Amino acid sequence: MIDYKDPKYTSTERANALLSLMTNEEKVGQMMQLAYKFMTREEALEWAKKGLGSYLHVLGDNADELQRTAINETRLGIPIIFGIDCIHGHALNEYATVFPTQLAMAQSFDREAMRKCGRVSATEVRCDSLHWTFSPVFCIGRDTRWGRINETFGEDPYLIGELGAAIVDGYQNNFVDNTCIMACAKHYIAYGESIGGRDAYDSMVSERMIRETFLPPFEKAAKAGCKTYMTGYQSVDGVPMNSNRRLLREVLKEEVGVDGFIITDWANVRSLIDNQKVCDNFEDASRVSIDAGNDMIMQTEEFYDATLKLIENGQVDMKHIDDSVFRILKAKFDMGLFEHPFEKPDRSKICCDEHVEVDLEVTRESMTLLKNDGILPINTKKVRKIAVIGPNADDLEAQYGDWSCGAANGHRKPATSMLKGIKKRAKKDGIEVVYKKGCDIEKPGKRGFNAAIKAAKESDLIIAVMGDYIELNGEYKSRATLDLPGEQTALLIELKKTKKPIVLVMVNGKPLCINWEAENMNAILETFNSGMVGGTVAAEILFGDVNPSGKLPISFPRTAGQVPVYYNYLPGWHGDNKYKDIEEGPLYPFGFGLSYTTFEYSNLSVSKTEFTEADGEIIVTAKIKNTGKVKGTEIAQMYIHDVVGTVMRPILELKGFERVELDAGEEKTVSFTLPVEELKVVEQNLERVLEKGDFEIMVGGSSVDLPLITTIKAV
Ligand code: GLC
Repeated sequence: MIDYKDPKYTSTERANALLSLMTNEEKVGQMMQLAYKFMTREEALEWAKKGLGSYLHVLGDNADELQRTAINETRLGIPIIFGIDCIHGHALNEYATVFPTQLAMAQSFDREAMRKCGRVSATEVRCDSLHWTFSPVFCIGRDTRWGRINETFGEDPYLIGELGAAIVDGYQNNFVDNTCIMACAKHYIAYGESIGGRDAYDSMVSERMIRETFLPPFEKAAKAGCKTYMTGYQSVDGVPMNSNRRLLREVLKEEVGVDGFIITDWANVRSLIDNQKVCDNFEDASRVSIDAGNDMIMQTEEFYDATLKLIENGQVDMKHIDDSVFRILKAKFDMGLFEHPFEKPDRSKICCDEHVEVDLEVTRESMTLLKNDGILPINTKKVRKIAVIGPNADDLEAQYGDWSCGAANGHRKPATSMLKGIKKRAKKDGIEVVYKKGCDIEKPGKRGFNAAIKAAKESDLIIAVMGDYIELNGEYKSRATLDLPGEQTALLIELKKTKKPIVLVMVNGKPLCINWEAENMNAILETFNSGMVGGTVAAEILFGDVNPSGKLPISFPRTAGQVPVYYNYLPGWHGDNKYKDIEEGPLYPFGFGLSYTTFEYSNLSVSKTEFTEADGEIIVTAKIKNTGKVKGTEIAQMYIHDVVGTVMRPILELKGFERVELDAGEEKTVSFTLPVEELKVVEQNLERVLEKGDFEIMVGGSSVDLPLITTIKAV
């Protein structure tokens, strides 16, 4: 029998050796995660002595105390793993670096930027004795009524998989040192398809559609070595994810194969009884959850006694219990927790200059210019007084967005609201800035209008900072309408009457139906939730210090009735994908974004015009020229269209993107690697196959601007 404490053995050998020594109580304890914030300190210590595998929402000294108890006061001294929702920065530390939300960062189409964000977040989380983040979200966000759109990388499976895998790599970094944490690919699977955009209801998707559209991002997570996966709240075709053996154990664990473990979402086992009504007691709920493939149970205390009883009565397969405990132990060995349970980076790393610089870099790529009639960049000779107006101009909590512990309760050194950023930048050119909130987001009333209109009349330019706020985004917070909430549009209509030019800066958690604004504003800059340095960066863009490069990771509907309006839809024919009472297509399409310069594409070429699966990949190249007067970065996009399939094929599918930086007049060649795997179809028999026939290959600057096209053939 090997000594599990000896690091010369592999994590597999050590986990098996340790497992063989464990009692049933110790095994079930490892399968549980409980939230510290819902326990007294004594209760938490009691659970540590019982050998609880993990806690969430506890950090620092309190976590260290639990760790000492687990190591010194239990028979086997198995260290605890501490988890946190570090979704776009270290959410539980108000001094930590807060990045833009996933949806905002997705505008960058930048894999390396995501990796850097993961590295910074992981390092800062480890400073607080935390080892694991429940991030990134791999859900597809395409029903914009859903409250959690801001947590996704948008509507495209390819973009989500590429960016998600990169941030997983950034978090985990092969567990080389004490700045690494376990990632968690969530929420498995098709959680964003919950009917009507209502959170945690039923997702009516077939297994074929799951395999073709929703599974590929999770496959990329697994390929990136993601250590954990979270079971979604909702059901699929009437089967709760938590009891969905087919999708969890058979598809994810056995077919895709994950080197790690599956954790349920919050109280999912309890939900089978209380909400989804597929069980009427904890033994039943625990049994079906284990059988379905869940390894760790988040926040259902009753699981402990219920499962011990199941074991005693022979009502649960001990093979599943042992496999789950093995996976959890192996992850702890892989993380080095047995050797270094208390090791952490120096606290000076938290929000250090280097990390703030990464945040600035990422944020500068994470804003999209949706409209510009030439008013931007601001002409500092003509514009000598700016009126900043709107409820989100000076609201850091709206700017930070979901899962950022509310900026208002923190004294983050570089935190910059839109107002603060604009004021600071305007001062450089001696430009005066006045601010009037004008209205609240949700509280009705136009009492602030007059002061705002007066300020506008006395200025040369209006910068209106509008959008939504934290109460309209997140769990439980789906919306049936998607207009600018409150009196914001009414205020903009009044401001428009002053005949002063208006630049609209959007601070919002999801696409909103800004139809009137799209018609009547001189310029629109979409920032979504831009995080800690959002104000600094928005000002850099408005004044032209930074040329905007972001592109939309999600389509903007014209009205909630048009949802879902994603770009990669299956073709229909009665009505050509449009409605009688609104204009065709989205207000702003996937992949769209303007620059202060212009770009031209030419010379599309492919490495093979006929190919087989054995070719492995096709190389697609094109030339891009900066045909404008200033340096800029273009996100070149490569799409495919499978012309004929045995099942219907999306009219367009993103399969490549690259950021290309070009000086004015400069031309470069961009190259995309197209794996043949990305061209396969999930047929009616659920097999994923490369079907023979033509594929159109297109390259351009957005899903609606693809000037270059050619055809290749699978033979
Ligand atoms: C939440 C969320 C999940 C999060 C978990 C732990 O309810 O659904 O995304 O990671 O609970 O906080």
